[in-house]
Amino acid sequence: MTLAVGTANKGDTSRIRPQVADANGLAARVDAALPVIVAEGLTITFGTGPDAVTALSDVSLAIAKGEFVVLIGPSGCGKTTLLRAIADLAPVTSGTLRVNGVSPEAARRNHAYGYVFQAPAMFPWRSVLRNVTLPLELAGVARAERLARAREQLQRVGLAAFARKFPWQLSGGMQQRASIARALSSQPTLLLMDEPFGALDEITRDSLNLQLHALWRSTGMTGVFVTHSIPEAVFLSTKIVVMSARPGRIIRTINNNLSGERTLAMRETAEFAVVARAVREALAEGHSYD
Ligand SMILES: Nc1ncnc2c1ncn2[C@@H]1O[C@H](COP(=O)(O)OP(=O)(O)O)[C@@H](O)[C@H]1O
Ligand SMILES: [Mg+2]
Repeated sequence: MTLAVGTANKGDTSRIRPQVADANGLAARVDAALPVIVAEGLTITFGTGPDAVTALSDVSLAIAKGEFVVLIGPSGCGKTTLLRAIADLAPVTSGTLRVNGVSPEAARRNHAYGYVFQAPAMFPWRSVLRNVTLPLELAGVARAERLARAREQLQRVGLAAFARKFPWQLSGGMQQRASIARALSSQPTLLLMDEPFGALDEITRDSLNLQLHALWRSTGMTGVFVTHSIPEAVFLSTKIVVMSARPGRIIRTINNNLSGERTLAMRETAEFAVVARAVREALAEGHSYD
C-alpha cells in the first residue's frame, strides 16, 4: 500500500513536501524543486482598530509545480482571502507571498493563473464563446487567435457544441465548465478555483470532479481548489490543507498519495477512508479552537 498521510506543522514550509511517487505516477509529476506558491507568515487583516478582522494569521505554505492542493475549512476561515491574495485581489498585511517566484502583482501581469469563482459570473448578453474570449479581449489578443483559443478550451471541457448559446441556456454544471474554459483561455500554468462546484447537485458534481481530475492530469497544471466537501477534497488532491476559523490559519497539511486510478468507486475504498478520516479529525481539531 502506497498511501501516505503525512502532516506538517504550520510555520514550517521546509517540512511541507509532496510525496514523490505513487503506483500511478500521480504525485510523481510534482516537481518539489519548482515552488509555484510560497507563503511565509502570511497575515491578512481587513480594516483597522476595534473593527479589524484578521482573515488569515501566520499562514505558511508551499505549493510545488504540478500539485493539486485543496483548501478545506469552515466558513470564514480565510480560504477565499488566501486565493484572492494569490491572485493579487486582496492585499497582504504582513509576511510574504510569492507566485512563480515573483509578487502576486507581477504574476497577475504575467497572466500566470486562471481564476474560477464560486458563481459562474458570466455575462448574460454575451454568447458562451464570447464570455470565454473576454479575458483575451481585455489582454489585447487578436480576434482570430482569441476565437481559436476559446474554441479549443470549450472543446476541452466538452462544450464545443454550445459555443453560440447564451449562459442562461446552459445548466449550472455547464456554466461552471464554461467558467473553467474561460480561466484556461489565457493558458495559465496555475488554476485557482473557489468552491466552483459548491452550488451543484451531487451527480453533476461527481461528473465534474472526474472531468477536472482528467483535465489536471492531462495538462500538468498546478491547482489550488477550495471546497467544503471532504470526499471532493480527497478525490481531487495531492495535498489537503486544513484550515481553522477565527483567525484563519493552517491546522494541518495532509499529503494525499492515494494509489491507482482515481475513480468515483475508489471513494468506497479503505485507502480513501483513511485520508478522509485524517481530514475530518483535523477539521474537528480546528473547531475546538472556538
Ligand atoms: N474585503 C473584506 N473586508 C472585510 N472583511 C473581509 C473581507 N473579505 C473577507 N473578510 C472577512 O475575512 C474572513 C475570511 O473570509 P473569507 O476569506 O471569505 O472566508 P472563507 O472563504 O473561508 O469562507 C471573514 O471573517 C470575512 O468576513
Ligand atoms: Mg469563501
